Amino acid sequence: MKICVFASGTGTNFKAIIDSIKKGYLRSKINLLISNNPNCNAVKIAASHGINFEIISNQLYKTIPQKELARIFLKILKKHKSDFIVLAGFMKFIPVEVVNKFRNKIINIHPALLPLFGGKGMFGINVHRAVIKSGVKVSGITIHFVNEIYDEGRIIFQKCCNVTSNDDEFTLQKKIQKLEHKYYPDIIKKFEDRKIKVREDKVWVS
Ligand code: GRF
Repeated sequence: MKICVFASGTGTNFKAIIDSIKKGYLRSKINLLISNNPNCNAVKIAASHGINFEIISNQLYKTIPQKELARIFLKILKKHKSDFIVLAGFMKFIPVEVVNKFRNKIINIHPALLPLFGGKGMFGINVHRAVIKSGVKVSGITIHFVNEIYDEGRIIFQKCCNVTSNDDEFTLQKKIQKLEHKYYPDIIKKFEDRKIKVREDKVWVS
């Protein structure tokens, strides 16, 4: 696959995918990073690995209509011949036209077990804080397809970890990151091997 990663932040998941390609575990190539933040670490990672990046700035997001924004996204994706999109901490909405064009070819990772602890405001450390506060005894990761509703696309894969009495949001975040860096590449590999089947409204991984 020719993967385009969308990322706005630290880029540790982006880096985990790059490493999996370098090791030969994944056969895909990341041919593009799209970010809204030219100063984020993900952009630095792209630059240092010779990966093309394009910035769709917050300013652009604010000033042009969504249809126009969609056209820009699709033009860039076409130019780079990307055929699969991996979201890795992208902090802006994705125009619906892009979601439609990449239906079942655009995935996201969420640092909790959806459908709980998702939606508005549920990103970064906020998620882990809410998990700790709720008193649940397990958390985990969710890898899901992206649809037009934030955090509500069909679930592809989940993995749990325990939340113990010693955990705070920061220790929990570390546990979750470990899971993310292992299982995000694993699931991308399942896509490469065509082991992800979408049947009606459910997704099965073999
Ligand atoms: C991850 O926790 C992921 O679950 C969420 O955004 C975060 C990105 O982290 N969607 P990083 O930038 O890959 O370190």
